Amino acid sequence: MEILQRAVELFRQRFNAEPEFIARAPGRVNLLGEHVDYNDGFVLPAAIDRATYIAFRRSSAHQSTLLAADLGEETTFTSKSVAEKRTAAGTPLPDWGLYPAGVMWSLHSKALDAPPMDAVFSSAVPRGAGLSSSASVEMAFGVAWEKLGSWKLPPMELALLGQRAENQYVGVNCGIMDQFASACGVKDRLLHLDCRSLEWNTLKLSADIAIVIADTSIRRSLTGSAYNDRRSACETAVRILRGVMPAITALRDVSVEAFNQHAAMLPPLVEKRARHIVEEISRTRTSVTLLEAGDVSHFGELMDQCHLSLRDLYEVSCPELDVMTEIAQSLPGCYGARLTGAGFGGCTVNLVAQESVGTFAGQLAERYSQRTGLHPEIYICRAADGAGVEAV
Ligand code: GLA
Repeated sequence: MEILQRAVELFRQRFNAEPEFIARAPGRVNLLGEHVDYNDGFVLPAAIDRATYIAFRRSSAHQSTLLAADLGEETTFTSKSVAEKRTAAGTPLPDWGLYPAGVMWSLHSKALDAPPMDAVFSSAVPRGAGLSSSASVEMAFGVAWEKLGSWKLPPMELALLGQRAENQYVGVNCGIMDQFASACGVKDRLLHLDCRSLEWNTLKLSADIAIVIADTSIRRSLTGSAYNDRRSACETAVRILRGVMPAITALRDVSVEAFNQHAAMLPPLVEKRARHIVEEISRTRTSVTLLEAGDVSHFGELMDQCHLSLRDLYEVSCPELDVMTEIAQSLPGCYGARLTGAGFGGCTVNLVAQESVGTFAGQLAERYSQRTGLHPEIYICRAADGAGVEAV
């Protein structure tokens, strides 16, 4: 809440008035189904109790004025200037400004009203840490404009508009998982999304299991291009495999058996990337039955396997994520551990028996520091509700 109070305080100082509303949109952690959303697979994320907050009001001016409290920077834009990725003054938008401006651009593309706003925003979702800080910013601005524009969309529709902003405006070819989790989160539940049909339901994680997030403190770099590369390798695999399986439209349509049969058709690097996807989709399918049966041990094993696959086949891990995972897996009470999100740095997700959480967190932090000289943040997290707005 400190973050929210700071945003409100800064709003008063900057605009010499009270904000009218507060928007909140959470980050997310993904338990299983990594890099499969853009292959029409299944994902198992949860919205987390760390969020982006915006204190805002409708502006009487022609332009929106946004203050990014965490950066101490301000930008302005109008509905016209966003189309050119420019500020109201005609200069290029700062990188962070592309997210809110992209959301405005995306809403306009659907003829949704996104009136000018005065806003201060601040986030408890660390940036570049694999917890979807960008999606939380996008969804917070999405619900803020929904309020000011007096329209209402189903949360999934808003998520799709956020994804569109990120794909076509910011330029990262991400899937739907992050915006979905931020928009549709449900308190104390895991989310299970079919990324093809966009149908979803929630699953229970037994109350004696905690979700622990461990931040390596390594911030990813070059994510956009490495991420887009992975995505195009998957598209290449589909193109080639269609030669023998003409009906497939995504790697989701390829079973592990069929993949093994035809893998030799693929260039070696493409084969590795595609194998991760095909096997990960199979793991995620199995995991739903396991969770429904309360079989956390077996589910945790699938998480461990997922990490190895992301490390060796998809090659999106880094030494610090591997060390963090290895230590976690050796500690009592840990069912499973793996990197979460896009990778290349950021956080791991761990499923831990509640009774062991205290020692687990302490030991993990201590041993990670000993081995790397870095200081990790460990969050014991609770699944949270999706984005929303409240009057101040
Ligand atoms: C990022 C993207 C998501 C998803 C994950 C990997 O978070 O935004 O769409 O692809 O990486 O699972």
